[in-house]
Amino acid sequence: MFITQYLADEHRKCDQFYADVEKAVSEGNWEEAERLFDLFKEKTLLHFRKEEEVLFPEFEMRTGITMGPTQVMRFEHQQARDLIQRLEEALKNRNKEEFLSVGESFMVLIQQHNMKEEQILYPMSDQHLDREEVVMKLSDLGEV
Ligand SMILES: [Fe+2]
Ligand SMILES: [Fe+2]
Repeated sequence: MFITQYLADEHRKCDQFYADVEKAVSEGNWEEAERLFDLFKEKTLLHFRKEEEVLFPEFEMRTGITMGPTQVMRFEHQQARDLIQRLEEALKNRNKEEFLSVGESFMVLIQQHNMKEEQILYPMSDQHLDREEVVMKLSDLGEV
């Protein structure tokens, strides 16, 4: 199993979790939206944690590159966490307009972030790291 395939698959799942929340919010289906939001948040934060606790440290240790892509990725995770916080507020206030507007910013950020990971960081990881071992450690933290 390639790291790229394993983690890109989680990106697809998280995209779908968000799309489901957005649909429920658009339809004014607030209770369903809250339920779906919890799932989206839990899985997205788990994906970030898997990268931050396993992939990034392994990448830094094996390549010696500590001030490059992993630092940028960590910073973007923090930006994404802030936006998820704002989405949660908008949801609590049942503010559809605010939710969809913050959601648009979230999607722009996360699509660019995911593209960088899938095109640069993951392929470099597959090249330099012990793929099987890393995928096993990632799986140990749970499934997205
Ligand atoms: Fe990431
Ligand atoms: Fe990722």
